[in-house]
Amino acid sequence: MLKIGDIEIKNPVVLAPMAGVCNSAFRLTVKEFGAGLVCAEMVSDKGIVNKNEKTMNMLYIDEREKPLSLQIFGGERKTLVEAAKFVDQNTNADIIDINMGCPVPKITKCDAGAKWLLDPNKIYEMVSAVVAEVEKPVTVKMRIGWDEEHIFAVKNAQAVERAGGKAVSLHGRTRVQMYEGKANWDIIREVKQNLNIPLIGNGDVQTPQDAKRMLDETGVDGVMIGRAALGDPWMIYRTVQYLETGILMPQPSVREKIDVCILHLDRLIALKNENIAVREMRKHAAWYLKGVRGNAIVRNAINECETRDDLVALLNDLVAEVEEKEQNQLIVG
Ligand SMILES: Cc1cc2nc3c(=O)[nH]c(=O)nc-3n(C[C@H](O)[C@H](O)[C@H](O)COP(=O)(O)O)c2cc1C
Repeated sequence: MLKIGDIEIKNPVVLAPMAGVCNSAFRLTVKEFGAGLVCAEMVSDKGIVNKNEKTMNMLYIDEREKPLSLQIFGGERKTLVEAAKFVDQNTNADIIDINMGCPVPKITKCDAGAKWLLDPNKIYEMVSAVVAEVEKPVTVKMRIGWDEEHIFAVKNAQAVERAGGKAVSLHGRTRVQMYEGKANWDIIREVKQNLNIPLIGNGDVQTPQDAKRMLDETGVDGVMIGRAALGDPWMIYRTVQYLETGILMPQPSVREKIDVCILHLDRLIALKNENIAVREMRKHAAWYLKGVRGNAIVRNAINECETRDDLVALLNDLVAEVEEKEQNQLIVG
């Protein structure tokens, strides 16, 4: 069983942290589809220290999401430690994760995110400083390196372990790769072979079979799924089922997809407000509709939606249309 510090995780399937996506509304929905662990979107250490209102709202966790890992990012020791202490003492997160993978210049310019990957000593010092001040287990999510010439994955992960970190999640790409090219699972395997704390592998797990292949080929303790879960919590459910029973469950019907999309929307409205939620939901709705016939026209209309009623009506119309076509095909066939 995957165990991070004292936190027992019932299966090795982990929802990746994704900024602008992994708020409580999405995480709870994915949790209900069986994820062992859900990760929250990254939160700025300075935002926490300054008690920025928007940042504070990002710290909300529903008890039903637990166990949950809350990720902070920052480049300076003082604010990172202070933010970690705040999360430790004022939230119901189970794990405090430190971001060492974000490739975006706005973040790396402040010595945060993937910038850390160039300096295992800094990793050791910063993680030690955080670990010393908090009760909750501390973990790190990192990429394999900055670029092809600077791949210090083993040293960096070992620095986390020496500093008292309780697990590492490793995305098999460099910072320079951003989200392009292929994730390097060989390096994930190499890190696993040189680490004593749990390692969660990440990158290019697009199907339940990929998840099994990653576990088998690299020996990692958990498998983290990001983009494949966008608009598709069934990916999590199907992966858990496949790993546990070897059975590949069928894909959801359009009705099922839209029902979950509406549930997600309603949770987002409860979390934020209707106006913000509907706007935010536009991208999610497009993801839920991926692969649904006739989705291109509806997608354009969705981008004009301002209210829940408008969005729900559009989605239900699409389901009716698809179901009617399927019915006609059955009759003709
Ligand atoms: C929209 C989006 C937002 C992301 N935000 C974060 C983040 O906040 N923190 C983080 O560590 N990684 C973040 N990532 C990276 C993912 O956690 C993951 O490492 C990456 O997508 C590779 O996994 P995948 O191939 O399963 O998508 C983000 C990725 C995407 C696509």
